Amino acid sequence: MIAGILRESGDEKRVALLPGETAAAIKMGLKVMVEEGAGTGALAPDDDYRAAGATTASRKEVISGADLLLTVNPPLDDISLFKEGQMLFTVLDPVANREWLEKARQGGLSVMALDLVPRITRAQSMDILSSMATVAGYKAVLEAASMLPRFFPMFMSAAGTIKPARVLVLGAGVAGLQAIAVARKLGAVVEVFDVRSAVKEEVKSLGGKFIEVEGAREDAAAGGYAVEQSEEFKKKQQELIQQRAAAADVIIATAQIPGRKAPVLILKETVSRMKSGSVIIDLAASTGGNCELTDKERDMVVNGVTIAGRSYYPSAMSVDASRMFGNNLINLLRIMTDGEGNVKPDLTDEIVAGTMAVSGGEYRSPRVKQLLDIKQI
Ligand code: NAI
Repeated sequence: MIAGILRESGDEKRVALLPGETAAAIKMGLKVMVEEGAGTGALAPDDDYRAAGATTASRKEVISGADLLLTVNPPLDDISLFKEGQMLFTVLDPVANREWLEKARQGGLSVMALDLVPRITRAQSMDILSSMATVAGYKAVLEAASMLPRFFPMFMSAAGTIKPARVLVLGAGVAGLQAIAVARKLGAVVEVFDVRSAVKEEVKSLGGKFIEVEGAREDAAAGGYAVEQSEEFKKKQQELIQQRAAAADVIIATAQIPGRKAPVLILKETVSRMKSGSVIIDLAASTGGNCELTDKERDMVVNGVTIAGRSYYPSAMSVDASRMFGNNLINLLRIMTDGEGNVKPDLTDEIVAGTMAVSGGEYRSPRVKQLLDIKQI
């Protein structure tokens, strides 16, 4: 079968497969066609793809010639060019792109939503969300450190003693844990909030202090994800966050609830109590933000506090983000390929069934049906 790698649109600098991962796909028996310039943003010239064994062609040729299309973001403008039976691998964001997905279903396409890979142990090596969250957590701390008019580590020098920066991390998922690790490596004192008690030990082992708010609602059926909290809990948590925020120099906000608006954890009033010069990096900006004042289009400065909504870090780290993306994608393709380069989705496999958003004119993934509230077609 032929896999096509498309050039991303807009400001996106990542590419679904770099030349190294393209070679791995070819080793699996696939033929690979790459849209000219697809790797430019990730510093991979067409020559490198050709050297890896791929061919390069125009977008139209790739779309009409490939059986599988590999992209980072859904090719929103090209839906009419795809043919029945083609299979797309992309980070779907089914809620934001529901109309596009409906068109894909009607057109008989198969869409593998890379953001829906089930969070089970066997699928860890395919988990693109975790890879991108790792990039975001890392970059968030580095950017906060460079924006902060203070040091991160403690300094004892002839010019006196400088206290370490205090970093507050909201949400200890993959991005939050990475942020804790990097902030600790830079010498900051780190405090952490999460609603899932399971992360307490991980936070501690990274050198963070877990701040417990009693009464958190947890749901084993949510697959390890957080769930919406009671009003009473939210109030208690906001008060405690307000206290800790007043002492913080940096807040890295990462709290999310899949398929819903991000919880608002930092109120306007909380910002007004923070020290001038402090920095909030809000990684939940694309789903509304953890801070009431976050504007995903521009940085805000309120009472001397900079509030930066960020969702472009994976694109800004395009080389390693593409490498991780490609490795995850190859690992997924590997369980779907028969050894002779034919991709055969087996819907009895939990990973394939959970990731396949639509195929054969039907919605498939239970999570897509749940997120889009689809009862039947
Ligand atoms: P996420 O990006 O969905 O959310 C970030 C964090 O915010 C989570 O830890 C969540 O509990 C927390 N949060 C949500 N609401 C909050 C609130 N009101 N206050 C404070 N914190 C709040 O999380 P991510 O990184 O995608 O991971 C979520 C789960 O998935 C974890 O259990 C993780 O271990 C699991 N996971 C499993 C994988 C696998 O087995 N293949 C791979 C990656 C993650």
